Amino acid sequence: MSHAIPARATTHSPPATPWWLDGNFAPVTAEVERAPLEVDGALPPELVGTYVRNGSNPVSGVSPHWFFGDGMVHGVRLEHGKAAWYRNRYVHTTMYEARAAFGQGPPGGASNQSNVSAIWHGGRLLTSGEVGLPYRLDPATLDTLGPFDFAGRLTSAFTAHPKIDPTTGRLHGFGYGFVPPFLTYWIVEPDGTLSHSSVVDIPASTMIHDFAITEHHAVFWDLPVRFDLAAAVAYVKDPTSGIFPYRWDPATGARLGVMPLDGSGPPRWFDLDPCYVFHGLNAYEDGDQVVVDVCHLDSIFRPGQTLGNGLATHRWRTDPASGRVADTVLTDGRIGELPTRDPRLVGRPYRFAYLVENRPSQTTVDLGGVIKLDVGTGDQQVWDPGPGAHGGEWLFVPTSDGEDHGYLLGFVYDTADDASELVVLDATAVANGPVARIRLPQRVPYGFHGTWIPG
Ligand SMILES: [Fe+2]
Repeated sequence: MSHAIPARATTHSPPATPWWLDGNFAPVTAEVERAPLEVDGALPPELVGTYVRNGSNPVSGVSPHWFFGDGMVHGVRLEHGKAAWYRNRYVHTTMYEARAAFGQGPPGGASNQSNVSAIWHGGRLLTSGEVGLPYRLDPATLDTLGPFDFAGRLTSAFTAHPKIDPTTGRLHGFGYGFVPPFLTYWIVEPDGTLSHSSVVDIPASTMIHDFAITEHHAVFWDLPVRFDLAAAVAYVKDPTSGIFPYRWDPATGARLGVMPLDGSGPPRWFDLDPCYVFHGLNAYEDGDQVVVDVCHLDSIFRPGQTLGNGLATHRWRTDPASGRVADTVLTDGRIGELPTRDPRLVGRPYRFAYLVENRPSQTTVDLGGVIKLDVGTGDQQVWDPGPGAHGGEWLFVPTSDGEDHGYLLGFVYDTADDASELVVLDATAVANGPVARIRLPQRVPYGFHGTWIPG
């Protein structure tokens, strides 16, 4: 990457700094506004809306894990070929206001960091930290309006990965708990009314980061990363201990649950080999089988392990006769994570997923450029920003009819000049590289998930 922003000194950290506080994982401290922004290339005029991405940005400057910093959103407004503004804002949670570290007091309700994702649905911009209530933000300013409980109807946590059914416009999601009920499924109508909530029976408190929907089903993966109360207590006593409140426990078993999308009955469970999955690419129905594509880890959170191992893209296919899941590797190409898909094909047969390359590393998360994966053939189209540049999640924004017809938006950080850009790629021509790069007034730390507010 190259651009004309004056180079600043690259942050050098002592070797003892954990990877999630090092380099561009390190938090930024300023809340900045800049308008308008310089653009290299041609910003597609049909992109009219606001891109908002959430991430972990500890206000104290330190955190015990990448997952446990205060939420900070970074937004870029695009209008008719211009980049109108950039701004970043802490999510002003009760924990942020109190300058409280994760684990100081029981997490839940408003007491969470709201640092994982941003969701636009029902005319509301929400952030989620997957623990406790979401927070509502003003989409025009990104200022925090407060915790949001759907008029008292949300009785569980709010996943960072709800899914919008492209046919009905309903938002389907869940929350998992440290105490029973361990899993609750809910549905929000297109007008923002929470219309359904029901308990899904699972035997233990496990970490369930994402799920999938199909045309007729909600699909849960209940995997053996188990809440560890003793570890959580030790962690609360000393958040610098490095003790993680979840642990790998293959004896808990691994299962895929397929339940009616309207929540009218319990899931049918299909056995899996122990593994862990943060993110699904997509899912769909194929006759009486359900197909789920996932970013599959062999394990995670073994003692002393802050990263998972054995990342690969897998396809799960339920077998109603055996009650098991057939598990195959989907591609032998580059490895990716933080998958997205064309939102018009959520839960439907699809061809393409878009991932950020996860370059092999035993000591850090080394993110690269775009992998556009054809899930039918396993073929990949790649854009690599170069070894010193690092992307994140690529959000797909549709602009014309047909799968893949749209643009990919994502922040890219360049180590060489310690600066970030919002990069825009034509999804149909990923290998051609960016069609536009928007220069940002400060670096954007690596983060998690974004959303698009159209119009
Ligand atoms: Fe996620």
